[in-house]
Amino acid sequence: ILHFLLGFVLGHVCGSVPSGLWLVQAFHGIDIRNYGSKNIGTTNVFRIVGPKTAVLVLIADAFKGILAVGIMSYFFNNPLLDVVTALGALLGHNYSLFLGFKGGKGVATALGLLIFMMPKVAVASFGIWLVCVLLTRYVSLGSIMAAIFTPPLAWYLGYPSAYVIFSVVAAFFVVLRHKENIHRLLTGTESKIKPGNAKDL
Ligand code: G3P
Repeated sequence: ILHFLLGFVLGHVCGSVPSGLWLVQAFHGIDIRNYGSKNIGTTNVFRIVGPKTAVLVLIADAFKGILAVGIMSYFFNNPLLDVVTALGALLGHNYSLFLGFKGGKGVATALGLLIFMMPKVAVASFGIWLVCVLLTRYVSLGSIMAAIFTPPLAWYLGYPSAYVIFSVVAAFFVVLRHKENIHRLLTGTESKIKPGNAKDL
């Protein structure tokens, strides 16, 4: 039980690092939480300051979950412990220690975790995300659809049940954090992503 607590805490601390907030602050001198969707994630960083910083945020947010789970699986090699650590990381990103338990939506962090834990699911879910975004230009819709399809994919592709349960819980939290996006999508007020509109500040 102590290992599980350790895994969750390590995951939560790593996941809590608000890469988007800090990188935008460092490179552009602004608080991303005051602009666009006010989210600290890759999409809003892309929207407000452009692709270069957005790519760094994507890598950092994806990597922090991999780091935590990588450390735990290196030392203990226990799939259930990986799952607890991964959930810690996702919840750390969404409810960050550095931001008074506010945070992001968990998409990039979940993608990193999927790449590490269930690579085949990562490819398939990313494919769903990409098709949705290319067809609709709504990043949030792509994220929600990818989240919804991830658990059935994990099950279908034969991953251990602990991993399938992880994908259900992770999908639940990703969709939950898109509550405002869902409202905007339903009322037709969600902003579409247009590469041409992103400017490198
Ligand atoms: O990954 C977050 C994305 O799905 C939506 O971001 O900034 O449009 O709320 P945003």
